[in-house]
Amino acid sequence: MLLYCKDLTKKFGEITAVNRLSFDVKAQEIFGIAGPNGAGKTTLYNLITGVYKGIGEINFDGSEINNLDPHRICHKGIARTFQIPQLATSLSAYHNIKIAAHFGNEKNRVDKKVIDDVIAFNGLRDKQGIVADKLSLIDKKLTMVAAAMATQPKMLMFDEPMAGLSPLEIRHLMDLFKKINEERGLTIVIIEHFMKVLTELADRLMILENGAKLCIGPPLEVTQDKRVIESYLGNCYAESK
Ligand SMILES: Nc1ncnc2c1ncn2[C@@H]1O[C@H](COP(=O)(O)OP(=O)(O)O)[C@@H](O)[C@H]1O
Ligand SMILES: [Mg+2]
Repeated sequence: MLLYCKDLTKKFGEITAVNRLSFDVKAQEIFGIAGPNGAGKTTLYNLITGVYKGIGEINFDGSEINNLDPHRICHKGIARTFQIPQLATSLSAYHNIKIAAHFGNEKNRVDKKVIDDVIAFNGLRDKQGIVADKLSLIDKKLTMVAAAMATQPKMLMFDEPMAGLSPLEIRHLMDLFKKINEERGLTIVIIEHFMKVLTELADRLMILENGAKLCIGPPLEVTQDKRVIESYLGNCYAESK
């Protein structure tokens, strides 16, 4: 396995955002995460990427990463995108991707070939000179994906990447994620509300509720699990079908 978390816990005052959570992600799989708002999904990403420190164990690619700073965790091979695009708004798509490439390189060196490759891979050749603020939502998201890929990760983590996109744009991102997984051999973790996206993309799916694991397994099993239907899917599944 590539990543495992054991008894992971994160509290914010009275709130236990992540509660004794254990799971693993296998190399090269697409691992989906879903659950109600406030279930602790983004907090889990913040723990894995070193933004927050919690209790418990996080092991990636054979070593413990619990106490490493975000840039060291990135150097180990974990990159992410954010629920709300986090780009330097006054810089071009190209410069945003270049900054990520710097961040991701242990020696702070940037290989222009890597930048050009992720720009081409994500279809941003014609847009690379545009200031991030002026990019459409889908292009902001593609720039974040390209920036994450520019750190040359082993595992990519997407946080609700489909939010705000049209059905065609969602299709485009789904195909892109499959291509990243199949052609580049990258492991993907994806938090998503649209069940259709997860049932098509994910090899395994974990449902979180109140910071804990409600269910984990192949998407078609998980979406038929009684507890999952009762506590999470109900309306949401009906809507996305
Ligand atoms: N920085 C923070 N300070 C205080 N509470 C937080 C913080 N981040 C998240 N929380 C709380 O932790 C819980 C889980 O939040 P979050 O991980 O964002 O959920 P999700 O991404 O599943 O919607 C929520 O109750 C949220 O209000
Ligand atoms: Mg979230």
